[in-house]
Amino acid sequence: MDILVINGPNLNMLGYREVGIYGDLSLEQINDKILNHFGDKDIKIDFYQSNQEGDIVTKLQSSINNYNGIVINPAAYSHYSIAILDAIRTTNIPVVEVHISNIYKREEYRRKSITAEGAIGVISGFGYYSYILAIESLGNYLLNN
Ligand code: DQA
Repeated sequence: MDILVINGPNLNMLGYREVGIYGDLSLEQINDKILNHFGDKDIKIDFYQSNQEGDIVTKLQSSINNYNGIVINPAAYSHYSIAILDAIRTTNIPVVEVHISNIYKREEYRRKSITAEGAIGVISGFGYYSYILAIESLGNYLLNN
């Protein structure tokens, strides 16, 4: 099973950025935790991060035929990027959307995710563990669909 994990803008600053909300782990540390967690499973996981909306769209397009499933944290783009939503739908690949924080108990403008409309499901609020739950859920979905 080949899984791609995409992280959007400012997530390269995890560990430094608003640690009270996002925790003190860097993105590299989170990615290591993910790899350790799934190390003994037959899952190949690639990671991609960009601060650019268009680059994320291009990455989603180029994942067609290359991945069985995608986990994406579109970060702030979740709340307004129709371009990323359209790219998610274009892939025809099952996508799980992730948020480190619980977006439903934050500012009003974070409570709606546009991109989630293209996802099979959303995991929000479990810190770095949201990514692990998302990959678990995606794996289960892929085995059963
Ligand atoms: C986030 C939530 C977004 O509202 C925010 O813009 C982020 C991170 C999260 O993982 O909790 O950058 O996607």
